[in-house]
Amino acid sequence: MSTKHRLIVQPTPTPDSAMIASNVKQPSSPFSPLSGEPQSSVSESNAATELPEILCKRYKIERLLGVGGMGAVYRARDLLREQYGDPDPYVAIKTLNEEFAEYPDANALLYTEFALTSRLRHSNVIRLYAFDVDPQSQRAFITMEPLKGPTLDQFLESHPDGLPWEEYRNIALPLIGALACAHERGVLHGDLKPSNVMLAKDGLRLFDFGLGQPVKGLLNGLPKLSRKRIAAWTPRYAALELLNGEGLTSTADVYGLACILYELASGLHPYSRLTAKQAKTMQQDKSLQRPANLPAHCWPALRLALAFDKEARQIGARGLLEAFSKPRPSLIRRIFNCQAG
Ligand SMILES: Nc1ncnc2c1ncn2[C@@H]1O[C@H](COP(=O)(O)OP(=O)(O)OP(=O)(O)O)[C@@H](O)[C@H]1O
Ligand SMILES: [Mg+2]
Repeated sequence: MSTKHRLIVQPTPTPDSAMIASNVKQPSSPFSPLSGEPQSSVSESNAATELPEILCKRYKIERLLGVGGMGAVYRARDLLREQYGDPDPYVAIKTLNEEFAEYPDANALLYTEFALTSRLRHSNVIRLYAFDVDPQSQRAFITMEPLKGPTLDQFLESHPDGLPWEEYRNIALPLIGALACAHERGVLHGDLKPSNVMLAKDGLRLFDFGLGQPVKGLLNGLPKLSRKRIAAWTPRYAALELLNGEGLTSTADVYGLACILYELASGLHPYSRLTAKQAKTMQQDKSLQRPANLPAHCWPALRLALAFDKEARQIGARGLLEAFSKPRPSLIRRIFNCQAG
């Protein structure tokens, strides 16, 4: 069964600024920005939006690759590259879905995703090519590398007991490294969850910085979106302080990452798929156990990252990376430690 997570979007509109989000995640009616009539369009049973078949006279939409709560991603052929003989002229195109695209600063929201992600050069972060607006439909879109492979939530469905350490490391280290790089470049992700990580053929990619934000003071020129009005966190992976209405920080990202890392080792969400708020009320942290697949030397760091209170979550992505990168003690040492302890 798919483990798509629903975002909760709580718009609190103010008269002075445009509202971006509504509480809708699912596909709805065909988008026809100019005429009110459905346009020549790509149609798939689950498509969140219908788009012109060709964007910017250049990108020919071929098929839907995936739908999220805010956007839809299509595979498209770049006709310009094709014209110049490129044997692989394919791109992935992300647009906001109809519900979001309607709002006046929707394009700025997508641009922010582009601006943040393209600041990052890391082999495990999705590579974006360009941001553009189709003049006819006024739909903004991002072009990026097309990926093939399961998302981590799909992958976990076929690994219900989690991964053995050797396999685990190959996913955990690139993922932690990607987030550490983002944080060091001043970019917060805002929506760390298994469905925003893809195991592409040539390596893991962290993607979907759609709820991302720059750390304070960085990228000041970006359009000022009324972020306070978008509480679009994914409940199971959102840090307690986000659920309580506080702003995004790198520490909040670390909580989402820690949930993924736990799930990857055990196959289970650390707090029985509860929100941090519910789990804290039920004192679930008291009974939190080290997943059997996770070496003991990683546990103190992961446990810290899973703390409900941000004051107690005293570890960053880099700290997690250091802890998880340490070689596992030899079997003899582990047995000896076990007997001694
Ligand atoms: N570059 C890509 N290549 C192939 N498929 C992609 C690519 N980017 C995204 N997808 C697919 O499209 C889906 C939606 O993309 P994305 O997560 O960016 O949208 P979203 O609406 O922001 O999602 P969310 O529900 O997390 O807010 C992904 O889950 C994935 O399956
Ligand atoms: Mg997503």
